[in-house]
Amino acid sequence: MSKKLEQLVTTAQAMVAPGRGILAIDESMGTIKKRFDAVGIENTEDNRLDYRSMMLTADGLGEHISGAILFDETIRQKMPDGTRLVDAMNDAGILPGIKVDKGAKDMAGFDGEKITEGLDGLRERLAEYVELGAKFCKWRAVITIGDDIPSRSCIDSNAHALARYAALCQEAGLVPIVEPEVLMNGTHDLDTSFDVTEATLKSLFQQLYEQNVMLEGTVLKASMVISGDQADNRASTQEVAEATVDCLLNSVPAAVAGVVFLSGGQGDVEATEHLNAMNQLGELPWPLSFSYGRALQEGCLKEWAADPKANRASAQKILLHRARMNGLAAQGEWGSDLEG
Ligand code: 13P
Repeated sequence: MSKKLEQLVTTAQAMVAPGRGILAIDESMGTIKKRFDAVGIENTEDNRLDYRSMMLTADGLGEHISGAILFDETIRQKMPDGTRLVDAMNDAGILPGIKVDKGAKDMAGFDGEKITEGLDGLRERLAEYVELGAKFCKWRAVITIGDDIPSRSCIDSNAHALARYAALCQEAGLVPIVEPEVLMNGTHDLDTSFDVTEATLKSLFQQLYEQNVMLEGTVLKASMVISGDQADNRASTQEVAEATVDCLLNSVPAAVAGVVFLSGGQGDVEATEHLNAMNQLGELPWPLSFSYGRALQEGCLKEWAADPKANRASAQKILLHRARMNGLAAQGEWGSDLEG
């Protein structure tokens, strides 16, 4: 194996090391505005820096957080004392990652479906992110479940883009997180979520194969197989865990470095509980860990927003607690009694 490939494998394995997972704080300008609006914080560059640096400098965060996914603005930012955020992360043992897609846009000719953009000029952007200190990347595709969707075209077009992105990342020495998110919005049942997730993952791994992507240096960010958020009789924790693991076993090659989950609108403890239940099912070919956005930040954001200056330490404490809970869940060692 070449030095570059070896480095990719080392990074990928570090991202999913036992008891550690990824903090997703790569909200686009539109999404962070939505999150800030909900807690009454003005969406300014200073507030974004203050909030995100508060999280990244939480003392001991690196114990359960292996890496954090940043937004383009954040990877360039310095704290008031002049320290680059990326340097603070490295000091804390947290790998800097970067979201490189340009967002999910309406897919022409396919009503209600999305295609993720961002391949044009990506090679040059990746070269700059390497200079800025990134070690891994993220690209998110969105698959929507509804009447007669997703279409085969939407699944395959998104898988193709994910694979081209992943190949470019590896060429640049960056580990690609490939994220085909099957949305949990809707009234669909568990079986539908299973079928769509399976079709999506099979298409993705076919495309990764065709684009010569090295799976040992790739991390899959998956959505759980779960009932739609508006469904009647939503599946239990155990059913979600079993269906998700079953679906992964049927569609994800053993060579993949690891699987991390997005939370996708699940509650914070719910996301922890699901991850824990999966890891209690026994030996699997890959580590199963987390790459949560909302499920890690929800409580922390609320606490910080109530008084950004006075509540800095208490907000950090909430984040550290969730990181620890999920670190335990990634090893099947979480229990509800630990929530306190
Ligand atoms: P959520 O955990 O809030 O779904 O976000 C994770 C993420 O990074 C989606 O791309």
